[in-house]
Amino acid sequence: MRKSLLLAVAVFLLCGRAALAQKSSTSVLAATPPMGWNSWNYFGHNVDDKGVRAAADQMVATGMRDAGYIYVNIDDTWEGERDSSGVIHSNAKFPDMKALADYVHSKGLKIGIYSSPGPQTCAHFAGSYGHEEQDAKTFAEWGIDFLKYDLCGLRPIMLQQAPNDRAAQMRIMIAAYDKMNKALKATGRPIVYSLCEYGWDAVWEWAPSVGGNLWRTTGDVQPNWSSIYAIVNSQAGLEQYASAGHWNDPDMLEVGNGKLTLAENRSHFGMWAMLAAPLLAGNDLPNMTPEVKSVLTNRDVIALDQDTLGKQGVRMYSEGETDVWVRHLAGGALAVAVLNAGAERSLDHPFHLNLSKLGLHGTQKGRDLWTGKEVELTENEPLALEPHGMLLVRIASPK
Ligand code: GLA
Repeated sequence: MRKSLLLAVAVFLLCGRAALAQKSSTSVLAATPPMGWNSWNYFGHNVDDKGVRAAADQMVATGMRDAGYIYVNIDDTWEGERDSSGVIHSNAKFPDMKALADYVHSKGLKIGIYSSPGPQTCAHFAGSYGHEEQDAKTFAEWGIDFLKYDLCGLRPIMLQQAPNDRAAQMRIMIAAYDKMNKALKATGRPIVYSLCEYGWDAVWEWAPSVGGNLWRTTGDVQPNWSSIYAIVNSQAGLEQYASAGHWNDPDMLEVGNGKLTLAENRSHFGMWAMLAAPLLAGNDLPNMTPEVKSVLTNRDVIALDQDTLGKQGVRMYSEGETDVWVRHLAGGALAVAVLNAGAERSLDHPFHLNLSKLGLHGTQKGRDLWTGKEVELTENEPLALEPHGMLLVRIASPK
């Protein structure tokens, strides 16, 4: 009798917990910035079924999946023709999208796809214009979990329908994003909705109202320091728009692409984490170097990005070529990033960190997230940062 009562209580508690877990995981889509991989930055037009499967395999083999990278996103150039009923089909590079989605899901990952509110995508493939409900249904039937919706082909229509009327053009654009939002919702499948219109028309102000979980805040990132640094700076001031389910997206990661140095890869990744940015790797996963892997899978930096308080970092001050950012974290913790935009090693001309400008009083104990070492930051401490390098410290109990 007592045993069965205990069992009943245990079952009740377990079920309650499972129901709660289910609720919290489904109630806010993209509760923390989405993490995954996207085909565009490295593969561009050369993405195909084989490459996406290989990326999924590598996400498991490299430990990226277990570090939090969940979405495997196919960008532009997968699109084929519409059939006589208007249903979109993938092109010859993707023989069976449903089978591909099943494969990605079987690895414990999720799959994303790309389309445009215009008749054509940026790479001139078929967009969803006039087929929004149909495409959302097709995506849901394939098992798609994430949609990047890229303005491109709608622009000529906006200009044509509302010549010389910027406000009316904007209304057309917002309505088009909302149309796909409603079509996605109507499928009943949770699909993360990623708006890509390059940060025009203060997208951060209206994206949540059309269901955007993330929205691009800039033009396309390039795998070089000047592009990355320009993007970082353009994010200052957008912090008020980020919150659980709604993220500024300074574009996908170029970590491991181009000729970025280790310091640049770290600064890029570390600053995206300070910005609570989506972490969508964009490199050649099967040929990733151990160094690049160590950057992308740094658990401390990922934890910073995914901090549950959901507050984006703020640029506090700049001096010469050095910028100091802080990010408020759950439990009263604080992350401090000192970013050296200069190309010179600053050993001879160290930067003196001014803690009081960050609202901190005296020496702070923290953890250097790139070395993993416990450190102390003291007022006016001279810091010698690598060219384009960063110091990234998490202070558990700031004073
Ligand atoms: C635009 C987007 C990129 C990529 C390409 C694909 O340029 O900003 O991220 O999706 O289109 O054509």
